[in-house]
Amino acid sequence: MLNLERISKTFHAGADRVLALRNLDLFLVESDFLTIIGSNGAGKSTLLNLIAGTVLPTTGCVLIDDVDVTSMPAYRRARMIGRIVQDPLAGTAPEMSVAENLALAIKRVGRGLRPALPRKLRTRFRDQLAALEIGLESRLNAPVSLLSGGERQALAVLMATLVEPKLLLLDEHTAALDPANAAMIVRLTESFVCEAGLTTLMVTHNMEQAIAVGNRLIMMHKGEIIHEVQGHEKQRASVEDLVDLFARRHVVDDELLLERMPEPATEAIKLPL
Ligand SMILES: Nc1ncnc2c1ncn2[C@@H]1O[C@H](COP(=O)(O)OP(=O)(O)OP(=O)(O)O)[C@@H](O)[C@H]1O
Ligand SMILES: [Mg+2]
Repeated sequence: MLNLERISKTFHAGADRVLALRNLDLFLVESDFLTIIGSNGAGKSTLLNLIAGTVLPTTGCVLIDDVDVTSMPAYRRARMIGRIVQDPLAGTAPEMSVAENLALAIKRVGRGLRPALPRKLRTRFRDQLAALEIGLESRLNAPVSLLSGGERQALAVLMATLVEPKLLLLDEHTAALDPANAAMIVRLTESFVCEAGLTTLMVTHNMEQAIAVGNRLIMMHKGEIIHEVQGHEKQRASVEDLVDLFARRHVVDDELLLERMPEPATEAIKLPL
């Protein structure tokens, strides 16, 4: 479904050359849910940006459903890719209302045009927001800028999956949230992904999360995949196993930026407006 073949990416920053990805191969079948962990600067975000088309590879190619999209511009790929990044401000149009953001997500278009909102659509959005169980259904008309970080990321998850994407790319999408909200977003993400069988790549610094979620896990370091586990082996893996594997590559804790898995949330904490 997703095929990355011999991908390399070199960045030129002034006189410096950074080899962000080195001859990387990755193949995902439909409904694979891949978690990605790795040291700081390992190339995780570059990998996701390359799939999204915001970064072009120096060598190699990207295929989605056997179509070579290597040089397809990001705006055209956006129609088949749902994407959420760390910053809750990034995924939504803050000056627009919750309902208007959802309407934009249906069309998978950029920000700017205020879409018309027939009553039927508002009712549908209200039901979909109610299913998130965080009270957003009563805030359809609120500008997104008034929502808390957790509420915005929950909206971003809904927006990214409203029209089923071929691929869902999550780049540390819970990292900026407090533990209760992070747990709520992980729960939502898992339920949306599993329900629709979405093919998903999720970058996280939280090793417990990387083990608990999804069916495959890769470890990256210095632009390479240094280890992969899947299925039963993944379920049985422990954080200590993964840290050990990194230690064998002389990757220290500081580079891994480890976080603890947030406690399961019974109710998301809402930040004051
Ligand atoms: N636009 C760019 N120009 C120059 N160098 C870049 C650019 N983007 C990324 N890099 C470099 O490429 C390497 C990989 O960066 P990347 O952001 O993919 O790492 P990462 O694994 O996501 O790290 P982190 O865990 O810190 O988010 C780093 O050394 C980074 O400095
Ligand atoms: Mg990154």
